[in-house]
Amino acid sequence: MPKIWSGRTDAETAELTDKLNYSIDIDRRLFREDITGSIVHAKMLAKQGFLTPHEFSSIETGLEAIREKFENGTIALPQNSEDIHMAIETLLTDKIGDPGKRLHTARSRNDQVATDFRLYLKSACNAIQKNLIELLSAISIKANLHLETVMPAYTHMQRAQPSTYAHYLMAYAQMFRRDFTRIADCVKRMDECPLGAGALCGTSYDIDRDFTAQELGFREPTQNSIDSVSDRDFAVELLAALSLIQTHLSRFSEEIVLWCSSEFRFIELDDAYTTGSSMMPQKKNPDVAELIRGKTGRVYGGLFNILTVLKGLPLAYNKDMQEDKEAVFDALDTILLSLEAFTEMLKSLKVNEDNMRNAAASGFINATDCADYLVARGLPFRDAYAIVGHLVSVCVENVATLENLPLEVFRNFSELFDKDVYETLTIDSCVRRRNSAGGPSPESVAKQIAVLDDFIGSTDV
Ligand code: ARG
Repeated sequence: MPKIWSGRTDAETAELTDKLNYSIDIDRRLFREDITGSIVHAKMLAKQGFLTPHEFSSIETGLEAIREKFENGTIALPQNSEDIHMAIETLLTDKIGDPGKRLHTARSRNDQVATDFRLYLKSACNAIQKNLIELLSAISIKANLHLETVMPAYTHMQRAQPSTYAHYLMAYAQMFRRDFTRIADCVKRMDECPLGAGALCGTSYDIDRDFTAQELGFREPTQNSIDSVSDRDFAVELLAALSLIQTHLSRFSEEIVLWCSSEFRFIELDDAYTTGSSMMPQKKNPDVAELIRGKTGRVYGGLFNILTVLKGLPLAYNKDMQEDKEAVFDALDTILLSLEAFTEMLKSLKVNEDNMRNAAASGFINATDCADYLVARGLPFRDAYAIVGHLVSVCVENVATLENLPLEVFRNFSELFDKDVYETLTIDSCVRRRNSAGGPSPESVAKQIAVLDDFIGSTDV
């Protein structure tokens, strides 16, 4: 097949060259953005007098008909389509003849692909943000139901201090809220239109870049034509933000895997989000959580892939950059699916409140509260800490808990202990009194949920 660029070279490309060079299987998903970009470009060319109104309308009608065929799956791509840009231009010219050949005036595939990619990513960011809001809403609803569901909070995987399931869930809400705003920040910097940069050094045609930027919904045109076609930092930034989302999902998933094990039994997954074993009839495996955790590598891989592609590239466009899309598309697909599946899994899981409470009752998670009791009666914290340390040793030796120790034992260690220590040591009271801003008391967590709900209500996605 003669190439669109035959003229400079007569030789046919080797099959292996085509195999390496063709990106159509990956970039065909840019068809909408490519068609929209071409229509706007043609509109600008007509406005500036480089196309007649008739030529423009035949380009527009032709491209819309092609879009329709892509949408309903009836498109037949021309043989030897190198990429989506060539494919659509060829389809258009086959369909409408001469005007199709005028479309590429004052444009290069370099500014075209940079524009298409940004347009695509802007709308993908919107989809990610929608999914994040769905997840945040699910967390808010669940947290509201569990303001008083006491559980131990952990450091070093050891029971540390008293908390609630709501408090724990709201920790993740903060991470996903920041993820949402990180995506919004990415969009801000991505929101510049490279169209009109040409291959790299602009054009001598009197084009109107403000017009195309505005028509395509960008905030403004890019400032420098070489930069416009050279950098993919917007994709790197997005992949970094996606990597963090997947990190958060992965940590959350890890805890779900742990917590539904027989060792914990804090939660029970809905059957719909588990699978069975082909051999062990008793198994109910948390595959969804495991896969979300496991897919994290793909997303990080995408980030490193594209950073590596860019690191040694001289300005401006180099074909290496064609590798950018596969990494980003894969990360986007992974995150969108992970967010959706995770949200449904979270919504449907059941909480074993009794098991959480029982776990909170052992492990001395009220030890800090016991020390604080002495501090409230005038003892310096370090002295109080030492006394409670001894009390815990006594408990360990006698297989007891602090709240079960006789008052004399307490008083052997400090005269400051009195009957009311027992009320202080109940887990519910420990939680209720941890009322500092951001803390686990139901009152404090209810405030956190209210702030989250305001945030959800203020977003516009
Ligand atoms: N398929 C190419 C890409 O995605 C389009 C740009 C081609 N430009 C070029 N100078 N060969 O990067």
